[in-house]
Amino acid sequence: MALIELRNLHKSYGSVNALRDLTLDVPEGCLYGLLGPNGAGKTTAIRIMATLLSPDQGTVTIAGLDALDQPRAVRQALGYVAQEVAIDKILTGRELLQLQGDLYHLKKNVRDERIAELIDRLGMDDWIDRRCGTYSGGMRRRLDLAAGLLHRPKLLVLDEPTVGLDIESRSAIWDLLRRLVHQGTSVLLSSHYLEEVEALADRMAIIDAGTVIAEGSPDELKRRLGGDRVTLRVREFSDQEEAQRVSELIRQVSGVSQVVINRSQGYSLNLVVENEPVIARLRDCLLDVGLPVFALAQSRPSLDDVYLQATGRTLMDAELAVAGQRDVKQERRKAMR
Ligand SMILES: Nc1ncnc2c1ncn2[C@@H]1O[C@H](COP(=O)(O)OP(=O)(O)O)[C@@H](O)[C@H]1O
Ligand SMILES: [Mg+2]
Repeated sequence: MALIELRNLHKSYGSVNALRDLTLDVPEGCLYGLLGPNGAGKTTAIRIMATLLSPDQGTVTIAGLDALDQPRAVRQALGYVAQEVAIDKILTGRELLQLQGDLYHLKKNVRDERIAELIDRLGMDDWIDRRCGTYSGGMRRRLDLAAGLLHRPKLLVLDEPTVGLDIESRSAIWDLLRRLVHQGTSVLLSSHYLEEVEALADRMAIIDAGTVIAEGSPDELKRRLGGDRVTLRVREFSDQEEAQRVSELIRQVSGVSQVVINRSQGYSLNLVVENEPVIARLRDCLLDVGLPVFALAQSRPSLDDVYLQATGRTLMDAELAVAGQRDVKQERRKAMR
C-alpha cells in the first residue's frame, strides 16, 4: 500500500487551475521528490496532503487514512515543514519547540526529552537558546525540521526545504534528510532544483501545470529516454515551420532515434542518438541543406531532458517564463555556489 495516494486532484484559485487531475502514489520508506518549476502546483499539492487545503475534486489518502474525513489523524501521521515559516522572533528556538509540543498535547517530560534528542540530532545545541530573530536561514530551517519531527510522524513533508540557503546549509539539510529516511521516516519534498531531487530522491515525480508528467526513480526516468543526448544549435530558425522541416530531415539521419524541437531559445533541436558516431552524419546532413552548425554537445540524459521531452522546454526556461522580472539565473547561480 502506498503511504500517500492522491487521486485525480483538481484545485482552482478563481480562474487559475493550480492542480489538474493530479494522481500520485508515494511508497513508504523512501525519499520522494516532487520536482517542478515555480507555479507547477507543488505547494498546493503539499498543503492538500497536510490537510491545510481541500481539493475541489479528488481523494487524498495518507497512511491509509482519508485526509478529507480524518484530518486530525492525518496530522498525527504527518509532519509538515512549510516553504515560508513565520517564526516568532522574540522566542528562543527551544521555547518554540516547547510550544509546538504543547500543540500536540505531549506530556512535559516526553516533550522535553524529545526536544533534547532533536537538538542533539540536528546539531542545534549552540544556538537553540538564542532568540529566533538572530538565526540564519540554515538555522531556521533546522528548527522548522525539528518542529515537524517533534510528534514523531511516520511521514515528513517538506516544501522546498533548501530554497535560499547557501551551499553548506543545503548539504547539511540533505544529510539530515538522508539520515532520517535511513532511520525509517518516509520523506516527501518538493523542489525546483534538479540537482536536489537528483541527489536525494529514491523516487520522484515531475509536475508541470498541475499534473504529473513523469514518475519513477531518477535513473529510470533517464533510462526511459534512451541513448545519449545531442543538443544541436544551428542558426536560429525563423519559425516553427522551418524548425519542423529541418527536424524531419534530421530524423532521417541514421542513428538518430528522436528529435525534439526546443522552443525556448529560438528553436534549437534536441536529439536522442544511438551509441554510435552520428555527429559527422549530422553535420553532412545540415551542410546539404545549407544550415551551418553553431554548437553541438553530446551528453548522458539528465532530468532536464526528461522535463524537456515531456513539455518541450527546459526547467530553467519554465522558471524564467513565470519569474517575470526576477533574475532566476542569478538566483540559481547564487544558490548553487
Ligand atoms: N492563494 C492563491 N490564490 C491564487 N492563485 C494561487 C494561490 N496559490 C497559488 N496560486 C497559483 O496556483 C498555481 C500553483 O501554485 P503553487 O501550488 O504555489 O505552485 P508551486 O509551489 O509549484 O510554485 C500558480 O499559478 C499560482 O500562482
Ligand atoms: Mg511552492
